[in-house]
Amino acid sequence: MSSAATLANSTTGVTSAFQAELIAVAAAANSELDRLLPTVPGPEGRVVEAMRYAALDGGKRLRPFLAVAAADLFDVPRARSMRAAAAVEMVHCYSLVHDDLPAMDDDDLRRGRPTVHKKFDEATAILAGDALLTEAFAVLADPETHPDGAVRADLVAELARASGSSGMVGGQMIDLMSASLTMDEAGLKRLQNLKTGCIIAAACRMGAVLAGAPASTVDILGSYGMDLGLAFQIADDVLDVESTAAETGKATGKDAAAGKATFVSRVGLEAAKNLAKTLANQASNHLIIFGNKADFLREAAGFAVTRRT
Ligand code: IPE
Ligand code: IPE
Ligand code: MG
Ligand code: MG
Ligand code: MG
Repeated sequence: MSSAATLANSTTGVTSAFQAELIAVAAAANSELDRLLPTVPGPEGRVVEAMRYAALDGGKRLRPFLAVAAADLFDVPRARSMRAAAAVEMVHCYSLVHDDLPAMDDDDLRRGRPTVHKKFDEATAILAGDALLTEAFAVLADPETHPDGAVRADLVAELARASGSSGMVGGQMIDLMSASLTMDEAGLKRLQNLKTGCIIAAACRMGAVLAGAPASTVDILGSYGMDLGLAFQIADDVLDVESTAAETGKATGKDAAAGKATFVSRVGLEAAKNLAKTLANQASNHLIIFGNKADFLREAAGFAVTRRT
C-alpha cells in the first residue's frame, strides 16, 4: 500500500481538510527527507541506503505534521518549518530502527516492510540509526533552517533534550526493564512520557521556537504535545492488542508476550482507551489561546487516539 493510501485509511473520524493536510505534509516531509539524505557513491553508500530505507516512503509523519502545524500558528515560512520537521522525523526513524533490533523489541516488520536489520543487517541498522540521529542535528544547525544562530541553538537543545537519557532513550531503557520492574501508574506514565511524549512535545515546541515565541508560549505547545504524546502511546498499546499487522504495518500482540508495562496491562483495555481520549481532550484544551488557528492541532489530538494504524 502506498503511504498516502495508508494514511487515508488511518484517518477515520477526522475532517477531510485535516486528512488532506496530513497527506500533504507527509508528502512534503518525504521530499524534504529525500533531498536531505542524498545517495552517495562508495562503500559508505550502504549506510546512506539504509538511512533512506528507514526514513523514506512510510509512516504517518505525525511529528512533522505537528512541527509544521505549530509553526503555522505563527506564520513561520514552510521552508524553515519543514527542515525542523524533517530533523524530528530523522530522530524518530532512528528510534524505530533501534527499537526493532533483536536486542530490543526484535521486530521483523515496520511500516509494512522488513525492518532495517532484516533488509540490511544488524550492524548496518545500528549505524543507520546513529547517522540519522547525527544528521538531524546537522540539519538544525544549518543556517538554511533559520538565519538566527540563537534560534538554531535553541532548536538543537530542544531536540537533544527530548532524545537523550532524560527523554526518549531514558524511556526506552525503562521500557526494556519494565518486565522486571514493579511499576505504579505514575511510573508507567513517566516511562511513556519519556519514550514517546518528549519527542512529540519537542516537535510542537520547535514550531514556536522557530517563530521566536516567548518561553510561556513554547511551554503551552509543549504541554499540548506531552498530553497528546501520552495519548498517542496509549493508543499504540491499544492497537498492539486490537489491531493486525495488515493494518498497522508492524507485528501486533507483542507487548503482552514480552511482559511490557503498558496502560493496557495496568488498567485494562477499556480504561486505557478512556484515558487516551481524556488526554486527547486535555491536549486540545491547552490550545485555547490560539483560537481557530489551532484547529488542525486540535484534530491531531483526536487523530492520535482514533487512528487505526
Ligand atoms: C511508533 O510511532 C512508535 C511509537 C512512539 C508508538 P508511529 O506510530 O508514529 O510510527 P510511524 O512513524 O507512523 O511509522
Ligand atoms: C517505541 O514504542 C517508542 C520509541 C521510542 C521508538 P514501541 O516499541 O511500542 O513502538 P512500536 O510499537 O514498536 O512502534
Ligand atoms: Mg519498544
Ligand atoms: Mg517496538
Ligand atoms: Mg508499540
